Amino acid sequence: MKFFIDTANIEEIKAANALGVLAGVTTNPSLVAKEGVSFHDRLREITTEVTSGSVSAEVIAEDAEGMIEEGKELAAIAPNITVKVPMTLEGLKAVKAFSDLNIKTNVTLIFNANQALLAARAGATYVSPFLGRLDDIGHNGMELIATIAEIFDRHEVKTEIIAASIRHPLHVTEAALNGAHISTIPYNVLEQLVKHPLTDQGIERFLADWNNANK
Ligand code: E4P
Repeated sequence: MKFFIDTANIEEIKAANALGVLAGVTTNPSLVAKEGVSFHDRLREITTEVTSGSVSAEVIAEDAEGMIEEGKELAAIAPNITVKVPMTLEGLKAVKAFSDLNIKTNVTLIFNANQALLAARAGATYVSPFLGRLDDIGHNGMELIATIAEIFDRHEVKTEIIAASIRHPLHVTEAALNGAHISTIPYNVLEQLVKHPLTDQGIERFLADWNNANK
């Protein structure tokens, strides 16, 4: 399983990239709105200064024609832009059009397996099931990942599964175990993945022993 970072914050993206584990970036309109910057400028910054991995940029239009127009503009910013499209009837039409144009897509707001399979068959490069938001309403987000992974495997679907709406480190481990190809995680969760109290204690003890021996 690969790691994407789920943020539009350039400092967080740079910091994640510096760790050497970053395979891509996902953004959404809420994350971009928090930044108070021009969306296109930020995408240019990410794609030219930070990563050549997939960078998901979401369309705002709700009709296929509008999505296609917006998506083409986004895709023209850099070759590694992936157009993020919401899971709707209009979204599926747009995904098919992007697929015919060889523009990569990430179908977002996936909450059941049928949505994922439809998106894949329309030609999506990625599907993004939202774990945390399902857990929030008392459903089991992780079961959805496992179901989609099994269906894609059984029917030899090439679309990759991005575990999205990740809230904590256990989501990341379980997403990997259940067949997600990618987890897209907020920066604070990425930091949490690195941490273990026994690692910190171990470093402290090694340093203390070293310093005692070298007095
Ligand atoms: C994924 O692409 C989305 O941007 C994201 O994971 C949504 O997460 P949230 O439910 O924490 O907003």
